Amino acid sequence: MRRPIVAGNWKMHGTRVDNARLIEELLSRYPDRSIAQCLVCPPFVYLQEVGRLLRDGPIGLGAQDVCAEAQGAFTGEVSAAMLKDVGCGHVIVGHSERRWVYHESDQLVARKFAAAQARALVPILCVGEQLSDREAGRTEEVIARQLDVVLELCGVSALESAVIAYEPVWAIGTGRSATPEQAEVVHAFIRERIGARDAKIAMATRILYGGSVKAGNAAELFDQPDVDGGLIGGASLNAEEFLAILAAAGSR
Ligand code: 13P
Repeated sequence: MRRPIVAGNWKMHGTRVDNARLIEELLSRYPDRSIAQCLVCPPFVYLQEVGRLLRDGPIGLGAQDVCAEAQGAFTGEVSAAMLKDVGCGHVIVGHSERRWVYHESDQLVARKFAAAQARALVPILCVGEQLSDREAGRTEEVIARQLDVVLELCGVSALESAVIAYEPVWAIGTGRSATPEQAEVVHAFIRERIGARDAKIAMATRILYGGSVKAGNAAELFDQPDVDGGLIGGASLNAEEFLAILAAAGSR
């Protein structure tokens, strides 16, 4: 049985005051026994302070991105060692906003994945197709390419300490989630593709869905056999919504 994960990606939102209020509310209403693993991914500048607010409690800390290089003259970048140093356990790599807005290549994303693992951070590898890919029937081709570059560079065993997130670009921040059936088809495809290299690792890998997950649609998405939780954007900024999504993941 794969333990579900609910991760909140705050993207470029929040202030110190907002963050403190949100964390306080999440912690005070956090279910006693949550079956799902939970983490939040604030912007870099807030990581240390949010980590302190989380007080080694039930919610983990993750970052939204990482530099592929270990250290050096890379102005503006943040290394995996630095993320580890401020208490991160996870880091998102290859988020669609990094791929499409900042033109990160599959190769760069794979190097970020490797850099994270080299410092014992758990990468959350995002994959996902654009609407034009889906309409042209190229969804699986795109996902396979994004996944295979990481598998080639790091090997399938790297997935033993990694998480995958399927985030169709057309569903992110649009209010138009994939249907549970659409999500399941792609999740099953990802698991099969990993399974072609190692069946045991494929069965153990957690594959999250992201893209307009809300309290109202979380349960039906998480009910799918290959959906092991969610990577939540907008709804993770609202304690009520986020806790309801966590509850939905815990009762699957
Ligand atoms: P939304 O939940 O706001 O659609 O964002 C999803 C996402 O990109 C999480 O990483």
